[in-house]
This record gives sequence, C-alpha cells and structure tokens, in this order.
Amino acid sequence: MATAEQKPVQTTNLPLYLAERTDLVPIFIMGKRYDVPSTLTIQKAFEYAGYQLIRSCGCRGGICGACATVYRLPDSPKIHVGLACQTVVQPSMYLAMVPFFPANRAVYDLDEIEPDVKTLLKHYPELAKCMGCNTCTKSCPMDLPVMEYISAALRGEIEKAAELSFPCVMCGICTSRCPAELAQYHIGMLCRRLTGRYINPAAEHVKAQIARIESGRFEGPLRKLMAADLQTLRKLYVDREMEPHGADEMWEPQEKEFL
Ligand code: SF4
Ligand code: SF4
Ligand code: FES
Repeated sequence: MATAEQKPVQTTNLPLYLAERTDLVPIFIMGKRYDVPSTLTIQKAFEYAGYQLIRSCGCRGGICGACATVYRLPDSPKIHVGLACQTVVQPSMYLAMVPFFPANRAVYDLDEIEPDVKTLLKHYPELAKCMGCNTCTKSCPMDLPVMEYISAALRGEIEKAAELSFPCVMCGICTSRCPAELAQYHIGMLCRRLTGRYINPAAEHVKAQIARIESGRFEGPLRKLMAADLQTLRKLYVDREMEPHGADEMWEPQEKEFL
C-alpha cells in the first residue's frame, strides 16, 4: 500500500508536473513495465502509462464492476483481485484487467416462475455442483460472503441469498475462479428478482408513483424537455435546485414540475 513516505517529493522549484518525480514505482501491465506514481489507483496508473480505457471502465467509483483486475505480487503465488478504480498500485505488481468473463445467464419470464429452489436449479443446474471450496468468497473484491449466498440459494433460502448478494457489483471474478463453473452473480440476481417480485411486500410509494406515471402526469414535462434546445437544457441543469448537504431523506425541491 502507498505510505506517507511515498508521497511526491519536489526536488526543484519547478511545478510538480515538470519536476523529476521520486515517487514512481514499477508495475507490469500485461507483462510490460511502467513506472507510475505510487499513490495512483490501478485505473489511473493505466491512464498514466498511456492506455485509453474504453472497456474496463465505467463509474470510477466502485459501483459498476467494470474494472475487475487480477494481479500477483513478487515472491507469492497468490492471485489477488481488486476493482481497478479502488485499488492503489503496489511496487512490482503484475496485473491485467478482466473486462468481461463469459458466464451462463438464464433467460426467464419473472411472472412465469416460482420463488423456490426448483426455479434456481432449472435455470442454473450447476448450482448443485458447488463443492464448498470458498474460492468465490476469497476472490470477491467486495468482500461478500459469496459461498454463503450460494449455499442459501441451494437451500431454497431465496431471501437470504438476495440479502447477502445485494452489494454485488457483477464484476464476475468469482465466476472466473469457480472450479464448479457457477455464475454466482447471475444466481444472486435471480434471487434478488424473485425476492422483489414474490417475497417482499409491494412498496406502496412505488405503486403510487406508477399510477402517476400511467395517468400521464409526466407526459407534458417530458415533451417540454425533449423539445428544448441545448442552451435551455444547460440552463435548466445549472439552475436546478440542489439537495443541501445534510438534508434528511424527506427533502424535496420547491419546484415540483418534474416530480
Ligand atoms: S468457488 Fe464455486 S464451488 Fe467453490 S464455494 Fe464458490 S460457488 Fe462453490
Ligand atoms: S459476488 Fe462475484 S460478481 Fe459479485 S462482486 Fe463479488 S466477485 Fe464480483
Ligand atoms: S469503474 Fe466502476 S467499479 Fe471501477
């Protein structure tokens, strides 16, 4: 990890970006060496090294799961994983991003299936092949109890599997490491969908909002936005009422045209 001693040291009166940097560390991106500032995340180190990230880059905030990365450190056979936008470089790390890992994704009609283990096994029969090795949990960059939610799914505890898998960012690293070839994150998603559709009580405020949408409440405001020119849209955006810092969850803007 980066330490205070590794912070950029300015040795001349030149601006930092022109001065000789003393805080660079070597990293190896797909086998090629680059010297990068020690405080950068892996994602920023890629860009510092000259890569333009077209894949493997989405939210840059640890939410979208697009930047799954695997790496090794010197003198250790262990494979480490991380989200490139959240993980700081370490000296001599060998790394590669995994922009996509193929996984079996079932197609189903949520209105036509039952919230039980038979549904899970029908769409993901490989679920029964889990051998409890825990590799998925050890490889999850979100530190989720992946094996636990898979075990819950296998026991038919759909709601528990949904709850345990809720923070999953769908990065796919667990799937890339699973010896039984499960697509854990798609199984977790099915459990969450079943929970939302059949197990949790319907949220009254969502029902009310759907009724407002169906009544045509937003038709006029949306058409107005669609007809607006760029300058008007920019002004609307810049002038919009912002939620004050520390506002409680009941906060609403004064202007309710689009609410
Ligand atoms: S890695 Fe695969 S086989 Fe191992 S515990 Fe996780 S789901 Fe089961
Ligand atoms: S459960 Fe799997 S797909 Fe979800 S965040 Fe963890 S490793 Fe990524
Ligand atoms: S870019 Fe979205 S999680 Fe890293």
